[in-house]
Amino acid sequence: MKKTQFIKDLKDKDSVESPFLIKFSATAVGKNGKPYMNLVFMDKTGEIEGRVWEDVTAYVGQAVRDAFVLVEGRCQTYQGRRQIVVQRLQILREDEVEQKDYLPESDLDADRLYGVLLDYVSSIQDPYYKALAEAILRDDPEIIEKMKRAPAAKGMHHAYKTGLLEHVVSITGILDSLSRHYGKYLDRDLLFLGGFFHDIGKIWELSYDRVTDYTNEGKLIGHLVMGVELIDRKIRELEAQPGKLPGGFPEEKKLLLKHVILAHHGRLEYGSPKEPQCLEALLVHMVDDLDSKVNAIQKFISQDQTPGRWTAINRNFERYFYKPDWAIPPNE
Ligand SMILES: [Fe+2]
Ligand SMILES: [Fe+2]
Repeated sequence: MKKTQFIKDLKDKDSVESPFLIKFSATAVGKNGKPYMNLVFMDKTGEIEGRVWEDVTAYVGQAVRDAFVLVEGRCQTYQGRRQIVVQRLQILREDEVEQKDYLPESDLDADRLYGVLLDYVSSIQDPYYKALAEAILRDDPEIIEKMKRAPAAKGMHHAYKTGLLEHVVSITGILDSLSRHYGKYLDRDLLFLGGFFHDIGKIWELSYDRVTDYTNEGKLIGHLVMGVELIDRKIRELEAQPGKLPGGFPEEKKLLLKHVILAHHGRLEYGSPKEPQCLEALLVHMVDDLDSKVNAIQKFISQDQTPGRWTAINRNFERYFYKPDWAIPPNE
């Protein structure tokens, strides 16, 4: 089934007849005692809420998260937000849709980005850190495949296919210039490995074949500890293979790298068990925060539908943002 209507183009009073992916689905009971359904539909261009008022019982258990549905209805604005009032839903099989139309993805090419990442890997000087980075990013096919696909988050920033890789390459580029700026005070290799691996646990923390969600491992362990576990496992494997390392992996290098990963959320209340206690950990944390905020605000501004120069309120940042020329549609 060809997709001809995309969410970003839907306007008030448009009639809708198009397949979407269901991101969220819940049934509630209205004041009149009748059940209704709240949905969030998505495609690669955005998300829109949907309401089903009729035949709700027929859709319960069918119109669930991760299902593809053909939606017939009308777009309307309610309390300043667009929503689709659904007249009819039809569940589609996954072979009836072109999956890439439904999941947002990076504007950048995954293979090209991965090439940039591998160039950074080959610039590492320290033989232990270099062997470790190669074992993880160059020689592990499962990690390569997942790194090219994973989003960096469910919603906050880089929340799209290849978002994690985009974030990691962006951060490493900033760390590269900081390492030149502050030169002799910094261990460039440690900074780079911090950039590569601070979020690597996310490739298993999240599931992203369809709608992004947390895995059980993600919920119970989280990507900081999962990253440290990976480092431990890979160092053990390298030490078990003769000739892979010049000697036993130095304890101090291992501790510092684990610290950079564990401290990258910056504060205990943001999920880091330790606050940054070396310059490299502090910089990885600050650059991570910078890169995620720039991406989140840029995406928010570019997806905002409010006419004029100001966006709707952003609940994460608790403010309105000014829209520059690139964010104003040409016909406005
Ligand atoms: Fe993180
Ligand atoms: Fe990050």
